[in-house]
Amino acid sequence: MSAPTPPTAELHLHVEGTIEAELLVRLADRDGLPLPSRDTDVLRERYEHFADLQSFLDVYYANLAVLRTEEDFHDLATGYLDRARAAGVRRAEVFVDPQTHVDRGVPLEAVIRGLSSAFSAAEETHGVSAAMILCFLRDLGPEAAEEILRAALPFREHFIGVGLDSAEVGYPPSLFTRVYAMAASEGLHRVAHAGEEGGPEYVREALDLLRVERVDHGIRAMEDPELVARLREERIPLTVCPLSNVALRAVDALPDHPLRRMLDEGLVATVNSDDPAYFGGYVDENYRAVARDLGLDRARLAQLARNSVDATFAPEEDKRRWRAEIADWAG
Ligand code: HPA
Ligand code: ZN
Repeated sequence: MSAPTPPTAELHLHVEGTIEAELLVRLADRDGLPLPSRDTDVLRERYEHFADLQSFLDVYYANLAVLRTEEDFHDLATGYLDRARAAGVRRAEVFVDPQTHVDRGVPLEAVIRGLSSAFSAAEETHGVSAAMILCFLRDLGPEAAEEILRAALPFREHFIGVGLDSAEVGYPPSLFTRVYAMAASEGLHRVAHAGEEGGPEYVREALDLLRVERVDHGIRAMEDPELVARLREERIPLTVCPLSNVALRAVDALPDHPLRRMLDEGLVATVNSDDPAYFGGYVDENYRAVARDLGLDRARLAQLARNSVDATFAPEEDKRRWRAEIADWAG
């Protein structure tokens, strides 16, 4: 009996969004830090009700106070990768927001080394392949983004690319043209959140000015038929996060989610969990939710999984192996 959800890659996952309430308490106890409550049920309550992206970000950034040491970052990533393995994840390209940690006084080296050692251990013990993408916080502006990229370059071997996240509207991709050109000149991959709360023009700017290879979220591209045609023709992957979109009210309810239309349009859409501790599920739970509420059958789920593998920055030989596993799963 094969798993109900396919082997997959996960390409839109913020490691900071995987702090479950239990880990929050464990890290706060270990580092002797205060929390609004030590009761995991009370903490979880705060995780569940968001009006929009900003109201989520307020809780998400506050909870990061418990991440202080290299060991904390290692344990955070290990917890995610254990859960991801159970979800069928073969490859994870994991976002981290270094600016928020450095601005709290955590050394950049602790962040990067803590995550990187967890990634290596997961690969050795479980065969899960993981790679790091450093995200710029768009609301801190382009100079701060350039500063963190320069600070991270001594650790260049530990990350494969750059991304752009945090509050979207009012911080268009165009602001970050120069830092993305710097990243490209270092041979780094480029992705960006666009079209989650911002409109189709954010997606166009990410493509034209930042030269991104994937668009994170991108659901509002569906409002613009010319853009949809371009995304299809250029085979630009979109890292869609269905449960996140409902939790942050980008979409009213899962049955209204555009994912099915995206597949019907021939887009390289993928399924991901974004911030699974906050949005009600890991990637397998996202697959199950879209299967149920959008009526996606096994063939459609396998298509989503194949798209995710096509969209990774992993070596071709790994992709071939994962595609074969998906074909087996599809039967
Ligand atoms: N959108 C933008 N920024 C983020 C998100 C998101 O869904 N999660 C963590 N940072
Ligand atoms: Zn995200």
